[in-house]
Amino acid sequence: MALDIDFVRSQFPAFAAANLQGQAFFENAGGSYTCQPVINRLTRFYTERKVQPYAPYEASTLAGAEMDEARHRLAKIMGVDTDELSFGPSTTQNTYVLAQAFRQFLSPGEAIIVTNQDHEANSGPWRRLADAGIEVREWQIDPQTGHLDPADLEKLLDENVRLVCFPHCSNVVGELNPVTEITALAHAAGAFVCVDGVSYAPHGLPNVGELGPDIYLFSAYKTYGPHQGLMVIRRALGELLPNQGHFFNGDSLYKRFTPAGPDHAQVAACAGMADYIATLAHHHGGPLTEGATQGAFVHDLMRAHEVELLQPLLDMVKDRNDLRLIGPSDASKRAPTVALALDRPAEGVAAELAEHGIMAGGGDFYALRALNAMGVSTSDGVLRLSFTHYTSKKEMTQLMEALDRVLSK
Ligand SMILES: Cc1ncc(COP(=O)(O)O)c(C=O)c1O
Repeated sequence: MALDIDFVRSQFPAFAAANLQGQAFFENAGGSYTCQPVINRLTRFYTERKVQPYAPYEASTLAGAEMDEARHRLAKIMGVDTDELSFGPSTTQNTYVLAQAFRQFLSPGEAIIVTNQDHEANSGPWRRLADAGIEVREWQIDPQTGHLDPADLEKLLDENVRLVCFPHCSNVVGELNPVTEITALAHAAGAFVCVDGVSYAPHGLPNVGELGPDIYLFSAYKTYGPHQGLMVIRRALGELLPNQGHFFNGDSLYKRFTPAGPDHAQVAACAGMADYIATLAHHHGGPLTEGATQGAFVHDLMRAHEVELLQPLLDMVKDRNDLRLIGPSDASKRAPTVALALDRPAEGVAAELAEHGIMAGGGDFYALRALNAMGVSTSDGVLRLSFTHYTSKKEMTQLMEALDRVLSK
């Protein structure tokens, strides 16, 4: 069944906002529009439940229950236990805390592997473990294509490696990395796996239980929700790593790596992301019961729509000699996050596109290591055109016409 795009867009108030009429949004990898159920829950929380949660009076009980509901429902969709999912202020903050835990857990002489394809959030905090005597090995991308080859990882793995960090897909290369295959390689060598799913999750929440990594991170504000970082930490690793929270919270798996007090309203509002997934499933004749099967149905629905819209854009840009398409030109191999290296500063080109009602950005997108490795000037940066399942064919046409006009000037 094809995605009912009108129905989808009716779930996002931004598409009805007067100031956004005629504006086609192509900076979704920076942060998505927010779906109605999340906005409703946030408003209700701030209006009716904005008290200290988990106390024995009604408003407080409801507040706490809604926070638990968010964790429980999203964990179920991702195929993990409720206490294996926790919320922090952002993915960058979550990675930072995890890196502190590994700093205490690892011994000098042990090794970790990071990539030069990642956003800095899943790179810098890990690389700093070198200060504690941990050997940091870099799994490098192909300088032409940006591709991360699992065969190169194999060469870096040995009995000293305790952790492998990589992205589900990079926020500039866009290529989908084979998480299950990479995880199997790392696990066979005795290493844990940390996956940055920030650029992937907006295109359909994955079944993390099935994919297999020990840590999976993503950001709700890029996935139709509020500004929160979500973190799956599988039990076996979470119970092994030293507690980073208050000492008396150490027995709660979901509190061990979130030293900051939670943003109650935003955590509760994340239940709206599960509402949205359920609404999409029901509307399109998918499974009525919530969980990983329903999540997979919605994931596939989103993905099919995105791939269909993405291919014509890739076909348009792949053979132009005034730009360089970063990552694969086959839509089935990548997320709809398309970075283009131009012969001039990308931010200026984004500004020209804005005159045609295209909202896009230019810059390095905190993927400096990847751009440097591919020989892309980080001062010019890349023009990034990123969309999601709620983008329409009409908006794609608007984008391609505007792009052609601006590039041909
Ligand atoms: C791929 C990727 N990873 C991590 C992050 C950092 O996420 P957060 O803003 O939640 O810290 C971003 C943000 O742009 C990103 O694109």
